[in-house]
Amino acid sequence: MSATILNGKAFAGRLLERVTEHVAVLKTEGIVPGLAVVLVGEDPPSQIYVRNKGIATKEAGMNSYEFRMPADTPEADLLAKVKELNADPAVNGILVQLPLPGHIDDKKVINTIAPEKDVDGFHILNVGRLATGQRAMVSCTPLGCLLLLRDHLGDLSGKDAVVIGRSNIVGKPMAQLLLGESCTVTIAHSRTKDLAEVVRRADIVVAAVGRPQMVPGDWIKPGATVIDVGINRVPAPEKGEGKTRVVGDVDYDSAVEVAGAITPVPGGVGPLTIACLLANTVTACCRANDLPEPEGLSV
Ligand code: GUN
Repeated sequence: MSATILNGKAFAGRLLERVTEHVAVLKTEGIVPGLAVVLVGEDPPSQIYVRNKGIATKEAGMNSYEFRMPADTPEADLLAKVKELNADPAVNGILVQLPLPGHIDDKKVINTIAPEKDVDGFHILNVGRLATGQRAMVSCTPLGCLLLLRDHLGDLSGKDAVVIGRSNIVGKPMAQLLLGESCTVTIAHSRTKDLAEVVRRADIVVAAVGRPQMVPGDWIKPGATVIDVGINRVPAPEKGEGKTRVVGDVDYDSAVEVAGAITPVPGGVGPLTIACLLANTVTACCRANDLPEPEGLSV
């Protein structure tokens, strides 16, 4: 039997609708949430991400502030810009696009962002708050995965979950979120012994390792829910010489035959990240103004 396809694009669309509705409610109180995005240097993919974030922010009715700084910007100047944004009441969310040029200490920059404006959820205080079950700003991709899992499965309590990958941006916060839902969580990584056996036990598999199609269908427990965070570009000679296509960390064609539900790549988790960034910005704005937060858009 073939799995239910978890349409992340459609789900992200529903999240964005809720964000947009809440922005409209805030406007009746004279409040417009603002998201500031800082890009240092000219990295082409980062320029595309930043442009897309700006477009989505404005489409949701929020103010978008974009700051582009040259690649040789001294660290002190970037820190000064972050502090200026921390002090600006029109700015509810601050995102410094990563990666930063090599001469800048990214941890120092991230930890200079006011934690309540850290819509990426990367500040050490937000990481600690999430780990200790306190109200936090949560990293956007894992937040999107959790909202999608809740939407599909409802109560996650008691489920066996495996997160493959231990990055600070996805793997670790994803594991914390699942633990917060009372799942039994295993974090697997490149040194895990017998990964196949570990994955076979799981009711929920979140793959976030960045290795194309490394999880085959015969590792998946029948009926499991599979969330594929991987976005890997691989050669696609069938499309012509030099052509590529995007695949996930899971071998979709074999996994779709076994799983109960699975996210496709592309069109699965990818669209959730921007939706959750905007959700975090609205949440930050509500918290800053002591107003009720939109329901179901945060943890
Ligand atoms: N670069 C790639 N993804 C991200 C992200 O989610 N946040 C930031 N700040 N930079 C990124």
